[in-house]
Amino acid sequence: MDTAQTLDLLARIDGTVSVVGSMNADYTVTTARLPGPGETVTGGPLEVLPGGKSGNQAAAAAKLGATVHMFGAVGSDTNADFLLGKLADAGVDTGGVRRVPGPSGTTVITVDASGENTIVYSPGSNADVSVDYVVSQRDLLTASSVLGLCLESPLETVTACARMCHDAGVRVLVNDSPFIPDLPAELIANADILLVNEHELAQLLGVDEPEDDDWDGFDWSDAMRRLQGIGFMQAIVTLGGDGSVVLDAHAQTPVTRIQPVHVHAIDTTGCGDAFMGTVLAALASGMPLDDAARIASYVSAYAATGRGAQASYGTAEQVCAMFASSH
Ligand SMILES: Nc1ncnc2c1ncn2[C@@H]1O[C@H](COP(=O)(O)OP(=O)(O)O)[C@@H](O)[C@H]1O
Ligand SMILES: [Mg+2]
Repeated sequence: MDTAQTLDLLARIDGTVSVVGSMNADYTVTTARLPGPGETVTGGPLEVLPGGKSGNQAAAAAKLGATVHMFGAVGSDTNADFLLGKLADAGVDTGGVRRVPGPSGTTVITVDASGENTIVYSPGSNADVSVDYVVSQRDLLTASSVLGLCLESPLETVTACARMCHDAGVRVLVNDSPFIPDLPAELIANADILLVNEHELAQLLGVDEPEDDDWDGFDWSDAMRRLQGIGFMQAIVTLGGDGSVVLDAHAQTPVTRIQPVHVHAIDTTGCGDAFMGTVLAALASGMPLDDAARIASYVSAYAATGRGAQASYGTAEQVCAMFASSH
């Protein structure tokens, strides 16, 4: 499938997606070097950007034209309206998001001149995404075709939500990130598709990453068999600037390599979430997994060309315009 054919698929996104999980205000300061313990360094101007893996995934899917319902919790601080406002701007329905007393989810990030960073995550209201809350949202959740989950919410909630939606016939896509090595058996049983990056895959399988990042020399058929042993029949592994691999135990071709889309990358923050949001939107629109990953390559490469996570995401038209002219 060539660029034009892949970009044509973007115009066909029309499905309904639910995303359950985290929203964070990312407080970022750039410094010449990172401070050591007990040390103060002076940084540049504070940037406050909307983030949180689930919020990012929802924003990415909605910008492409999917109907997206976001479920999660914001606090009683000013970041609550900031986060909901940014999601609404992206076209996400936030009507089901819970408001709880206390601070919203926050990350405090320092980035040095070489791009190295330190991140402190304060879950705040994200910790209040409870099983009871998810059950209370059952009608809308189970009316979606596809559900997106990551692990920035309580694991028991993620597991209960996966089960409720999977039982109702919703396709469940689980992003094992932030990485947990031992996913609950019940979560695996109710996850239709796994999405991980290359580092998460290596940890999950207990294998070394290939020397010189030679992922083309990696034994992907063996990886598929090992994932099947864990309980996953379908998976997508993202490889940063090297693209991605789609694994499908039941397909005629169980391993499909998706080539990277070359761009001048400025900031790859949130590229993985842009990729996941695109896969959610494409699957909800009835597209096969490999086509979903092909589209996601373009959408996530677009996101690498701008700063921030949600702030760098494009609409279907913007993504098409960038790549239609360059090929
Ligand atoms: N430098 C880049 N150039 C082009 N595409 C990129 C680049 N970095 C990431 N991407 C795209 O974003 C996807 C997700 O990035 P990756 O780094 O694998 O995820 P994560 O952010 O979870 O670590 C990749 O599969 C690729 O499609
Ligand atoms: Mg990466």
